[in-house]
Amino acid sequence: MQNLPTAETYTAEATYMPWGILLAEIEDIVISKTPEHGRVLDLLCGTGNLIGALKKKRPDMECTGVDLEPEYIAYAREHHPDIDFIVADAFTWEASEKFDVIVCTGGLHHLPHELQEPFLGKVASLLKEGGMAIVGDPYIPDYANEQERKLAAAELGHEYLAVTIQNGATDDVIQAAIDLIPNDVFLVEFKTSIEKVTPHFNKHFAHVDMHKTWGPDSFGDYYFVCGN
Ligand SMILES: C[S@@+](CC[C@H](N)C(=O)[O-])C[C@H]1O[C@@H](n2cnc3c(N)ncnc32)[C@H](O)[C@@H]1O
Repeated sequence: MQNLPTAETYTAEATYMPWGILLAEIEDIVISKTPEHGRVLDLLCGTGNLIGALKKKRPDMECTGVDLEPEYIAYAREHHPDIDFIVADAFTWEASEKFDVIVCTGGLHHLPHELQEPFLGKVASLLKEGGMAIVGDPYIPDYANEQERKLAAAELGHEYLAVTIQNGATDDVIQAAIDLIPNDVFLVEFKTSIEKVTPHFNKHFAHVDMHKTWGPDSFGDYYFVCGN
């Protein structure tokens, strides 16, 4: 078990944390751009909220969710029985067919820094020709050494916590926002900077568009829309 909140708290986070804005934008893009009966993969799908919302609005889509955490997949299966959920490690999982659309939200920063570039390679390998991948995460200010990285993680964490409280979050969600700070500072999670991640996207995709949904100048929530 990783150091993650319960499925219920995790689901509630999207209501109070800035993260909800990013999820809503990605949802709109997938709903409007996925071809009829398209194959959609949510890689590192967690509790299946995003892919569940997508399937509800576009029942024609053939939806798959993959995550390592059995508790999250059990929750996802219970709430979205019309979606194919798989417990698997994204790096070793093999799909029988490629996908028109791949989404990965809040997943990249759960992978150790050295695995983030290979993970994007895996995403690219699962995408059909002409398909679209959308990868969204929170990013910290850029840093040049380990002390700067810790300070950058604390800066994002403080801003995130403040906005979560201002949004009227329940105590369990506030606690989850507090827990993000030690997770990020001590590398339980692996947030990085936009400056460091952008070359990884450019390495694996021919087209990369970056969008920002929340945050001060140099950090916050971003998603990348990528094509081959
Ligand atoms: C913060 S959650 C994001 C969940 C979901 N995408 C969302 O937006 O709500 C990160 C997820 O990555 C999963 N994960 C981490 N490493 C993984 C791996 N190697 N293969 C599959 N899932 C992994 C964790 O179990 C966790 O559910």
